Amino acid sequence: MKVLVTGGCGYIGSHTVCELLYANHEVVILDDFSNSKKDVLQKIETLTGQKPRFYEGKVQDKALLKEIFESQKIEAVIHFAGYKAVGESVEKPLMYYENNLESTLHLLEIMQEFSCKNFVFSSSATVYGSPKSLPIKEDFPLSTTNPYGTTKLMIEQILKDLSKSDPTWNITILRYFNPIGNEKTGLLGENPQGIPNNLMPYIVRVANGILPCLSVFGDDYGTPDGTGVRDYIHVVDLAKGHVKALEHFSGLRIYNLGTGHGYSVLDLVKTFEKVNGVKVPYKIVERRKGDIAACYADPTKAQQELGWTAEETLEDMCRDSYQYIIQEAKREKSLK
Ligand code: WQD
Repeated sequence: MKVLVTGGCGYIGSHTVCELLYANHEVVILDDFSNSKKDVLQKIETLTGQKPRFYEGKVQDKALLKEIFESQKIEAVIHFAGYKAVGESVEKPLMYYENNLESTLHLLEIMQEFSCKNFVFSSSATVYGSPKSLPIKEDFPLSTTNPYGTTKLMIEQILKDLSKSDPTWNITILRYFNPIGNEKTGLLGENPQGIPNNLMPYIVRVANGILPCLSVFGDDYGTPDGTGVRDYIHVVDLAKGHVKALEHFSGLRIYNLGTGHGYSVLDLVKTFEKVNGVKVPYKIVERRKGDIAACYADPTKAQQELGWTAEETLEDMCRDSYQYIIQEAKREKSLK
């Protein structure tokens, strides 16, 4: 299929573009580089030997969307583009609602105009809020505690209403748990600007001496070692889940993309140290506002209906993450 990937130069988007190309799909990328770098395009070409058609711009730009759909016979869309920092969304809610909702509405309107009704949406386990029990199934109650998560929930509602109004739409909502790691060569990876909010990007920077010490946000949760538990999933497994979603369209479907295993902060630190032979100094500090104790998926539905199962282990995720930061440091040094 010829697939438009919005946010295709981002962390998850670029890994998904590669997996789509490996699976012989044709890819068109739309990205505004607000949270990604231009050099990702070259990295995709190096990895896959292919140069997807690229458009620079914002998904809100309906004229640009029209130009893409008029010149490319787009058969499906995977929509990653959107702001995704929880903390920033609390400080700047209007920016998040405008960007994430308007871009999606404009995209869906143009798709409808060009009779392209195959849509995969990048959602998040954050829509489950603080789950009453574990593992989490797709029919669990939904609630959010920050504007970022609420934009995901609102877009899911928009998609449900669209599907009700026109059942000829094929819409697959993918709820990601905690994506980490990167493809095996260390060329593509997660490279947030500034001080990372998320755990793994922080750990790799402490291990590489860029940051002095990891702050563990609380060790008094009701979990085995008191630190937060999450379902870490290798980003390549996540990317492969999108290819499966594209190949199994069937009306409106919702899937958890997780491993089904919960690991604590200290599990991740200890595994990272073991597989990479490094030390990650840490200190226990107070809980981070808005954090939940534990969250991990029941991935059965995706296994049964998409034929998809996460295969990479926590060791793989830790090894690949460290490889990326080492290679990236070498690349940056060679550019100086
Ligand atoms: C994981 C665990 C922290 C950093 C967020 C978003 C979610 C999704 C993934 C977009 C928690 C602990 C973290 C640190 C720490 N993003 N931690 N020290 O919060 O589960 O999910 O990212 O879709 O929507 O909410 O991920 O990596 O920030 O935290 O102790 O420096 O690590 O308390 O237990 P989170 P995270």
